[in-house]
Amino acid sequence: MNLIDPADVTRAADILRGGGLVAFPTETVYGLGADASNPSAVSRIFAAKGRPADHPLIVHLPDATHLEQWAVDVPDEARVLAAAFWPGALTLVLRRADGVPDETTGGRPTVGVRVPDQPLAQALLGAFGGGVAAPSANRFGCVSPTRAEDVHAELGDRVDMVLDGGPCKVGVESTILDLTRRPFEILRPGGVSAEAIEACLGTAVTRIAGGEARAPGMLEVHYAPRTPVLLAETAEAAAALAVPGLCIGFIGPAETVRPSGVVEVGRADSADAYAHELYHWLREADARGLDRLIAVLPAPSGIGVAVRDRLRRAAAASPATGGSGERQ
Ligand code: TXA
Ligand code: MG
Repeated sequence: MNLIDPADVTRAADILRGGGLVAFPTETVYGLGADASNPSAVSRIFAAKGRPADHPLIVHLPDATHLEQWAVDVPDEARVLAAAFWPGALTLVLRRADGVPDETTGGRPTVGVRVPDQPLAQALLGAFGGGVAAPSANRFGCVSPTRAEDVHAELGDRVDMVLDGGPCKVGVESTILDLTRRPFEILRPGGVSAEAIEACLGTAVTRIAGGEARAPGMLEVHYAPRTPVLLAETAEAAAALAVPGLCIGFIGPAETVRPSGVVEVGRADSADAYAHELYHWLREADARGLDRLIAVLPAPSGIGVAVRDRLRRAAAASPATGGSGERQ
């Protein structure tokens, strides 16, 4: 268990007030945080990540009562969803309020907001008392961090402080739901499933079709390790990808038979477990210096949709799969 040190939280909140950068755990992935109302602090996020300035950031709030400070024309459904899923892995895209800096929203008329479900994140947001803009705490295009040591490896001294809350509970990013158009539209699948959102609202939402990138900055090549990733729907398809003579790793659902001659990097006995371990396994593939990583995909339901989406983008970087190999 990682205990919360109040002195660390106070120092982190002071760094945010002073325009600095604090990496902190959320239930999804670690975030690279700055005061969302301070344009120069937010600019430092883009410099640290090497991220293009027109990509909007998610504003993390202490609780739903802060919504009105960041968004206007908030539909009733936003409050219904917030009551059902916050704190939690659901980001709501709403019309932005006056005074929200362009740096935070990438110049858009909308803002993405969420309340994270992680004790250390909540302590930090409570002590800071405002909105914290935070993308995932990785270099642009690379694998999101799910442990404090991953943040150190990605960003090192580009960040003023890293709060260590242990491994992230969910392991993939939040679901992004655009409430500014009807029907509401999922821009990125994530920790809260489309099924759960629809059950809460009692209406259908538009889901992203086979890998279309709708969230600005969510590129075809993303979440990519250095190791080329190859995707398979079945054990048979995975076996066909195992090339003799190469050092090939394997990840997949627990019930999938591992092809012979490949190294097991990890197996998950549920879609939740797959999400929880996914980014750690991608980093592990790099650490072990594998030539390739074969991933058998989970079923496309619940959080499995998000796992498939991330793996598809990770594989798009791989020349072996016909991807461009370029990190955009
Ligand atoms: O789980 C998460 O969402 C994590 C943790 C740290 O909260 N954050 C995260 O941030 O994944 P980032 O920046 O890596 O991804 C945020 C995505 C981007 O693709 C961005 O385009 C989209 O959210 N986004 C943010 N604000 C938006 C807006 N106003 N309209 C549309 N998309 C938006
Ligand atoms: Mg990211």
